[in-house]
Amino acid sequence: MTENYAWWQKGIIYQIYPRSFQDSNGDGTGDLPGVIQRLDYLQKLGIDAIWLSPIYPSPMHDFGYDVADYCDIHPLFGTLEDFDRLLAETHRRGLKLLLDLVPNHTSDEHPWFVESRSSRANPKRDWYIWRDPAPDGGPPNNWKSLFGGPAWTFDAGTGQYYLHQFVTQQPELNYHNIEVQFAMQDVMRFWLDKGIDGFRVDVIGFMWKDEQFRDNPKNPNWDGQLPFLEFWPLYTQNLPGVHNIIRQMRAVLDEYDDRVMVGETYVPNAELVKYYGDNHDECHMPFNFQLIVTEEFSPRPWNARSIRQGVEAYEAVLPEGGWPNWVLGNHDQHRVASRIGFDQARVANMLLLTLRGTPTTYYGEEIGMENVPIPPDRVQDPPAVNQPEIAHLVGRDPERTPMQWDAGPNAGFASAEVTPWLPLAPDYTERNVANQETDPTSMLNFYRALAHLRRAEPALHGGAYASVDTQADNVFAYRRTHSGYDSFLVVLNFGAETHTLDLSHVASEATIAVATHMLSDGAVDLAQLVLGANEGLVLRVNP
Ligand code: GLC
Repeated sequence: MTENYAWWQKGIIYQIYPRSFQDSNGDGTGDLPGVIQRLDYLQKLGIDAIWLSPIYPSPMHDFGYDVADYCDIHPLFGTLEDFDRLLAETHRRGLKLLLDLVPNHTSDEHPWFVESRSSRANPKRDWYIWRDPAPDGGPPNNWKSLFGGPAWTFDAGTGQYYLHQFVTQQPELNYHNIEVQFAMQDVMRFWLDKGIDGFRVDVIGFMWKDEQFRDNPKNPNWDGQLPFLEFWPLYTQNLPGVHNIIRQMRAVLDEYDDRVMVGETYVPNAELVKYYGDNHDECHMPFNFQLIVTEEFSPRPWNARSIRQGVEAYEAVLPEGGWPNWVLGNHDQHRVASRIGFDQARVANMLLLTLRGTPTTYYGEEIGMENVPIPPDRVQDPPAVNQPEIAHLVGRDPERTPMQWDAGPNAGFASAEVTPWLPLAPDYTERNVANQETDPTSMLNFYRALAHLRRAEPALHGGAYASVDTQADNVFAYRRTHSGYDSFLVVLNFGAETHTLDLSHVASEATIAVATHMLSDGAVDLAQLVLGANEGLVLRVNP
């Protein structure tokens, strides 16, 4: 019975990048009171939980993923009182709230690091990863930062290097030290005691490094593009020891009722399943990025064959009782509508909201927001700033631009006289929430229809999944079934050709529940189902 499923299994998660959602105080950057103003919108959208990217005090070298105090709010975003109000208002609307936990590294301005770097004898020295220089005075080994350059920075004051796999200002905590584990567990309790509903855990697989600090091996498949991938992160990511740390974190979460832990896990399936834990004692949901990247970590080709293969491979490898999840985009990935083409954006949302498992939607995907070109003098994201020659590949500003609420000044994101921290989409006067509200055929209303159908139908939020052969090239179809309830057939055209399909082997009769491009609840002829260009249908199948 799907009534027994947890909220995070049945529900839709919506990721907010707080800098870009809604500015309430005229500084051009979004904030918590701004999010509160938009809660009614989110409730009406039909999502169930909000995940906020980091809102903690931070010098913003990685836009909040460099945390200087885990138990407070950055003044840019508001105060702890604003946070309490946000939490209460979220709960009052029947929604859940997840915070981003960044346990792998702190800011170099965090008091722990300030102490740690103050002297080799400081009790917090061992809270971070310090190593002597190599014999030639260079970095201790060949580990690289994902954001360019070595993963080691020399501290002249104490004559050692510290480790950071992101920017220099993100020193990594040493989880081999149990005091660090306990300190992070207390951070979790601080927020869980306030009543938050769980965490998305940043780079969860990075928290444990090779004890011998061995060089990472050369990556034989390196295509020469991203410097970081020249070496395979064998000794820096997904080491077996990380699972014990995650189990301890999960145990903290389990001191509370009904909370969820989602991990950021860009790994192949065989590795991914380990993050559920051997006894379901790690992540409730390790993020499944299969719709964005393949298991080989190359961009997922957007065609029916590749998507079907990805879905089936993931379904096949999930452990018994391991709950699936799907995601199309986030603050680190180019906008899905830009990756796959705007014409396919509705198909992508239909896929996301009808596959088996919890969907996560990145803000703006419900209205088809695309990457926004960033003029060179406004580029802010550190990997792009540090590596201008590959900024177009690694820069994340284009997918972090202000939410497009209406056609007014600054798209309703901020008051007219301010300059938003990132530029607005050039076409925001057309593509925005207000315009789409009033158009019954808009992407927004389509998303709402899907979200509400998903919530109402046990087959969709909790039923089984089975692929369906269609014979047509570039059409992907599948069934969702749950005994005792209506079942559904989802048919998605990944291309611009029209197809006439014979799906009479699935059922004799069906009616349209949601369609990408029309408003209809009429019956269709499954023996001669016409599927237009870039069209998707969710069909209610009569047994
Ligand atoms: C994660 C975050 C990304 C951040 C990095 C370092 O990948 O999603 O935005 O830059 O961790 O914290």
